[in-house]
Amino acid sequence: MTAQTLLRRATGLSVSKSVAERAVGQRMEQTGFADSETYLHAITPAEMTQLIELVVVPESWLFRDPQAFYATVELVQERWARGRATRILSIPCAGGEEPYSMAMALRDGGVPKQAFSIDAYDLSPGCIERAQAGIYGRNAFRAQDVAFRERYFTHVADDCYRIIDALREQVTFRQGNLLQFDTATYSKHYDVIFCRNLLIYFDKPTTRAAIQNLSALLADDGMLLAGYAEVPSFCQNGFAPLQFRQAFALKKDSTPPAAVIQVAALPPARTLRSVPPAPRPRRRVPHRRQPQRRRARVPCRYSKPLCKRTCWPKRACWPTVASCAKRAKKCHAHLARVPEAAEAYFMLGIINELAGKMDLADDYWRRCIYLQPDHYEALCHLALLAERNGNSTAASTLKARAARIFQRRQASN
Ligand SMILES: C[S@@+](CC[C@H](N)C(=O)[O-])C[C@H]1O[C@@H](n2cnc3c(N)ncnc32)[C@H](O)[C@@H]1O
Repeated sequence: MTAQTLLRRATGLSVSKSVAERAVGQRMEQTGFADSETYLHAITPAEMTQLIELVVVPESWLFRDPQAFYATVELVQERWARGRATRILSIPCAGGEEPYSMAMALRDGGVPKQAFSIDAYDLSPGCIERAQAGIYGRNAFRAQDVAFRERYFTHVADDCYRIIDALREQVTFRQGNLLQFDTATYSKHYDVIFCRNLLIYFDKPTTRAAIQNLSALLADDGMLLAGYAEVPSFCQNGFAPLQFRQAFALKKDSTPPAAVIQVAALPPARTLRSVPPAPRPRRRVPHRRQPQRRRARVPCRYSKPLCKRTCWPKRACWPTVASCAKRAKKCHAHLARVPEAAEAYFMLGIINELAGKMDLADDYWRRCIYLQPDHYEALCHLALLAERNGNSTAASTLKARAARIFQRRQASN
């Protein structure tokens, strides 16, 4: 078995051949093995752990994408008001930045400690050790506002700060692999799960397996917080977005698949018909609302040229063949005037995807990223398309590129 396959099986990570070989080379140097075949053949569980440490990406910082923490505080407060404590899981937790941010946000929100518990897991024992120590350097304090450092950290050395014991005690850290989690014992155990910036490193089958485990661990009325680039994967695998701005929050989707196509959820390619397939029977109940049927209303990122409202997904805004053709015409007319209009190419990609013309969609999104290499949405669509086409290497590269862009955006916001 190659180093790449071995690592992929153990971690789920789409590790490139060169990264896997470099890691093996490093370990061979440290352990005195002369050739990689012998090293891989003789590898022990302890040595495997050392090897894995070299390929994981433990990048994290305190209050990364902070809206997720504020959305959780709201949920915990609301549950506590009804006498219910909230179980929170952070997986992967890297060096503890995420669960500690959660604990700080809850304390800032005046939530009593008996109102919640926080479990945090990471594949890497090194990460768990760092998390338990709770000592952070400059990189962990990348958030815009670091006033929390004064409240919750003590200065230990030059640029090093240690989290106060009162907060450290609120998080239980353990080493664990999401793909091997004991979902039977912890079935529906958690009310809130943070699983951010992990699936971007997985291929499609592994992503599906990971989401299945998360779904098994999450209570039916629970909330899951994902990384921005990971929302489409969740929507494709039984989750639906929740309305919390910039929190990338999702819930288990209990509604049957709607007749409308959810652009943000990136469904498998379908042929666009003038009437969406299998429409739900229309019922004339103008005065009676059906809350269970209502979908979260969130600002629509994709349909700006299609719809000026902030309603997504909403049947009324869904384009018909005729309206798509009109919009495509507008895009082409716009491109005739402004040939470098990346956004117009992006929209043409969407329109063609809806029409089931995936090759054309691919071509337009590629033109879009040629003109605007940091077009995040186009990269995500291309990644998902590559995945659908079974090209997992291209998909991983595109996802990683999208994730880097997203991280840059967040850092500069
Ligand atoms: C980029 S960090 C994300 C940390 C944090 N959730 C965040 O968003 O800041 C990715 C982490 O995933 C961990 N990891 C990789 N594969 C894993 C797996 N199969 N199960 C649990 N953790 C895993 C790595 O050790 C690494 O610390």
